[in-house]
Amino acid sequence: MIDETVRQALREDIGAGDVTTRACVPARLLARGSFIAREPLVVAGLDLLEVIYRERGGVDNLAVLKRDGDRCVEGDVLATVRGRARTLLECERVALNFLQRLSGVATAARAFAEAVEGTNCRVLDTRKTTPGLRQLEKRAAAAGGVTNHRMGLFDAVLIKNNHIAAAGGVRQAIESARGAGLPIEIEVRTREELQEALGAGAQHLLLDNVTPVEAREWVREIGGRAKVELSGGITLANVRAYAEAGADFLSAGAITHSARAVDISFRLELENTAAPIDLDRLRAEFPGRTVVHYPKLDSTMRAAAGLETGAVVLADEQTAGQGRHGRSWHSEAGAGIYCSMVLKPTPVLTLALGLAAAEAIAQSSGVACDLRWPNDVMAGDRKVAGILVQLVDGAAIAGIGINVNQTSFPAHLAEEATSLRMASGREVAPAGLLIALLRAVDAFTAEPPEAILRLFARASSYAAGRRVTVELPDGAVAGTTAGLTSEGFLILRKDDGTDTLVVAGGVRAAGA
Ligand code: BTN
Repeated sequence: MIDETVRQALREDIGAGDVTTRACVPARLLARGSFIAREPLVVAGLDLLEVIYRERGGVDNLAVLKRDGDRCVEGDVLATVRGRARTLLECERVALNFLQRLSGVATAARAFAEAVEGTNCRVLDTRKTTPGLRQLEKRAAAAGGVTNHRMGLFDAVLIKNNHIAAAGGVRQAIESARGAGLPIEIEVRTREELQEALGAGAQHLLLDNVTPVEAREWVREIGGRAKVELSGGITLANVRAYAEAGADFLSAGAITHSARAVDISFRLELENTAAPIDLDRLRAEFPGRTVVHYPKLDSTMRAAAGLETGAVVLADEQTAGQGRHGRSWHSEAGAGIYCSMVLKPTPVLTLALGLAAAEAIAQSSGVACDLRWPNDVMAGDRKVAGILVQLVDGAAIAGIGINVNQTSFPAHLAEEATSLRMASGREVAPAGLLIALLRAVDAFTAEPPEAILRLFARASSYAAGRRVTVELPDGAVAGTTAGLTSEGFLILRKDDGTDTLVVAGGVRAAGA
């Protein structure tokens, strides 16, 4: 039922397609959206977001941050969503229409419920709902704190004056309705009808359009022999007076028919508007080299193994990106450079590749990077790129991962990783960066090891004179770096004055 309501709303709005979005927004673009409260409100309808995006597809993450019935203040983020920019734009209006209207109902319901607090009276909603939205609006009313009256004409008997006239009187109407086997409520307008209804065993009486003073008199006269519900003209301004008249229930159509849609906005941030890698241009820049591209791959390291020297493997996304020491490399789709090259094994290759990555990054993004021995390319105190060299059948498979246009990272990386976009505040074109990278790799791998060591020592604040802690097999050791050996190992001068050689990674700035 709810799925069908959502489908209907999507059909009504999107129809055969959102022509503007299709014309202006490339299919590959990803985006993040946030639903934000723009005024104090009670939220409702959040579960519809899941239905909406499931219907349209193309969303990889939906985080609902509040629950129906939660009170929100201006600026609260109700939910976030990430996926195809096209989907988020197409669904924006429908999602907001549902959230704004249903939260409006919940907000109105909460105001009514709070207005009668401390009395013995409960506020009920009515059937005065938007056609087709009964179930959703009643759920929102309940989330706001009022009690649902009957859902429709089918689940309770409510005998009104026309029914009484047609049945031939109050008693006849009640007796005829008993056969339905449902709860019976009957409207009474006069003292005679009241007596007749009570005499026929009525347990739930409706008084329509009475003043609070009249209501008090009726309640006194009924004296607890039946439940009393008041309806007609009940507003937020007078609801307390009616509740204090002693009624058991007040039904207020205003909760649904007059609720104002509340102000909720949708903020969209596009990801990766930069042009994608242009393979033709890349192949033209590096003629004679094999360039293999995969939209999605487990790891470029695996795909590069066995290819000839000079071959380059690229992926837009890796599902099992490899980092050093068995760690994984976070490889969000379309946000980074994930590249493996087949190279001749040379001494200090990892250091040469770090220099190449830093040089290419500086050229294409302006971000000046530090090199944390041996393979981390750092933007400030966060890692922006990493190098992984594996020897396979006598060839060096050189993996380089650069975080280019990510706007956030998973929680476990959030303190350690950054992207060029986050570091520079600007989107970076991966196509240009990749060409600069391949050129820099060619240039630095052609240098002799002594030159690489000299350049690395100059480019890295970690090579000498830096207080660090190093994870060694026997545990963490603190000390000060004291240069590189001719093999490219890091010399660590420990606090007792002795030196130790660090041959693998695990270097951290002291205090980091
Ligand atoms: C590290 O710093 O731990 C090394 C990270 C290397 C990541 C790159 S991404 C391209 C290539 N494919 C992989 O699976 N890993 C490397």
